[in-house]
Amino acid sequence: MNKKNILLLCGGSGTEHEVSLVSAKFLEKNLQEIGLYNVIKVEIGKPKTTDKTFRLINADGSIGQTVEINSKRQLVGSNILFDLHYVVPCIHGPPGETGEIQTYLELINLPYFGCGPEASIICFNKVTSKLWFNALDIPNTPFEFLTSIEDAPKAHKLMDLHSKVFVKAASQGSSVGCYQVFKKDELDTALKNAFKYSEYVLVEKMVTARELEISTYEFDGVIHASVPGEINCPSAFYSYEEKYDPKSKTTTEIVAPGLTTDIVESMRAYAIKAFKALKLRHQSRIDFFYTDDGKIYLNEINTFPGATPISMFPKMMENNGHSYLTFISTIIKKDIL
Ligand SMILES: Nc1ncnc2c1ncn2[C@@H]1O[C@H](COP(=O)(O)OP(=O)(O)OP(=O)(O)O)[C@@H](O)[C@H]1O
Ligand SMILES: [Mg+2]
Repeated sequence: MNKKNILLLCGGSGTEHEVSLVSAKFLEKNLQEIGLYNVIKVEIGKPKTTDKTFRLINADGSIGQTVEINSKRQLVGSNILFDLHYVVPCIHGPPGETGEIQTYLELINLPYFGCGPEASIICFNKVTSKLWFNALDIPNTPFEFLTSIEDAPKAHKLMDLHSKVFVKAASQGSSVGCYQVFKKDELDTALKNAFKYSEYVLVEKMVTARELEISTYEFDGVIHASVPGEINCPSAFYSYEEKYDPKSKTTTEIVAPGLTTDIVESMRAYAIKAFKALKLRHQSRIDFFYTDDGKIYLNEINTFPGATPISMFPKMMENNGHSYLTFISTIIKKDIL
């Protein structure tokens, strides 16, 4: 029997391009272990992340020819043609977590792993996601959003109320376009800078909080939420450097210590509520703040969480009693054409 072809897409035009390559290696190893599929790897955004060309990754890891996915669900290049049966869009940030790739895959009726276009678009935009959290009665930090710099008075009013705020470009990840604002006279500069990254800008109350995250995923028709893990970031701002610099002092724990059962169960219930209502699919990492004065706030939903060997998502899942390999192989077997 011919093996089915799985296209593993990686890279992308975001700041997490390199992280995506590491996640893709881990996923490739897992997919190969299943033994039923040919895994074809394609990187988007080489040599520059702004380059949206799709390029085949050769067996030896080198970058190969330019390829395209056509409307007949085939991957075509100058001297290759593969029928595609499934896609794993292993991209953190654009154009994967932004829903663009999924929109095209829906259009050509090619099944894929992970969240659909609409859930991806909603969750990637920090403003839209907070509007949804409010509509669903899921607590999140008090905020205002700006559609242009003309809305700056809204941000000033919020700062008058809460004294310290976070300014965030709506459609960015990896803490890029995110600014801590401690003084009123720094606010306008932060807003202007954030508008360089996005058309919409979010301003929210700065909280003093622990950063907790939950692996939320579907397995055998049930939505599971792990107990929260924790990011221990010594600087109180989990910045781009803290996330990716080898000198980062940030540490992680698969099980956040010292939480009461009530807190754990409330967070898990919010994670499951968000997963169901936003129609997330297969997997998401849902991030929370647990403030010094005992409040739980949902911060954000990552629709394609990091899946490197040291990433929190697969580890929290394993700790919750499910093997990552069994998880992906069960989904793919069910979904594949
Ligand atoms: N309201 C807030 N109060 C205190 N700290 C905050 C607040 N919002 C964000 N932070 C800090 O900034 C970091 C980055 O913010 P956030 O998670 O919203 O965006 P992001 O990391 O850019 O998104 P992604 O995780 O998708 O890449 C958080 O991990 C946290 O350390
Ligand atoms: Mg974050």
